[in-house]
Amino acid sequence: MAVGIFDSGLGGLTVLDAVARRLPDVPFVYLGDNAHAPYGVRTHDDIFNLTCGATERLWDEGCDLVILACNTASAAALKRMQETWVPAQKRVLGVFVPLIEALTERQWGDNSPPREVAIKHVALFATPATVASRAFQRELAFRAIGVDVEAQPCGGVVDAIEQGDEILAEALVRSHVEALMRRMPHPQAAILGCTHYPLMQKAFQDALGADVKVYSQANLVAESLTDYLTRHPEFHGSGTRSKFMTTGDPSYVSSKATQFLRRQVVFEAA
Ligand code: DGL
Repeated sequence: MAVGIFDSGLGGLTVLDAVARRLPDVPFVYLGDNAHAPYGVRTHDDIFNLTCGATERLWDEGCDLVILACNTASAAALKRMQETWVPAQKRVLGVFVPLIEALTERQWGDNSPPREVAIKHVALFATPATVASRAFQRELAFRAIGVDVEAQPCGGVVDAIEQGDEILAEALVRSHVEALMRRMPHPQAAILGCTHYPLMQKAFQDALGADVKVYSQANLVAESLTDYLTRHPEFHGSGTRSKFMTTGDPSYVSSKATQFLRRQVVFEAA
């Protein structure tokens, strides 16, 4: 039984870390498409084709359930994949919905009509492709009314993280937060809508100030995956071994992953 975790690069490791802690007996196969990152500046067709290719690779590893630990792929490709491409005996899930359910005070899978919620002003930080898709606003509108969302496309941040340039990534985070706060001076909550951004969570929180509640996805996704696997044990898959795969250079990706997670991570070629 193995579950696949996919991201364009290193960001999904933040999700992998949380789900592996929550489900220590489940083998996880991680695939980072580092050769094609960042996805956030690509067209939706390009993101769809790359994400389908990576998902098939994870199916070959015995993962019948694949989590897109990538907001860009979840926003730009997931709906089309589910409607036109995923066969009946497989599942592909994204990372958006658990986050929006937490923000809108809902239990998993509560599909009741939209209602007023406590949070009224939300800052969304995400890649340009995720912001352009408006998928976050769409999912939010199904669940809440009267929430004002200001979205900031954070160009350059994923690239800087993939290259291991933390100083540049921090400077970019500060300037994206300032840009957003010129348009929305007092957000109540901030969504880190890219799985790379928890690696910069302190920089976001420092720039936003202590009063702003920062939501990041890793733990929320871990809880909802646990719930999903309890309800659907048939999607545990036939794979038996955890591993890390990359379409990029395995030794370079291993060293960056080890630096970010502060524990040794060894990638092999996909
Ligand atoms: N970590 C991804 C996300 O959540 C990918 C970003 C990218 O490749 O641009 O959006």
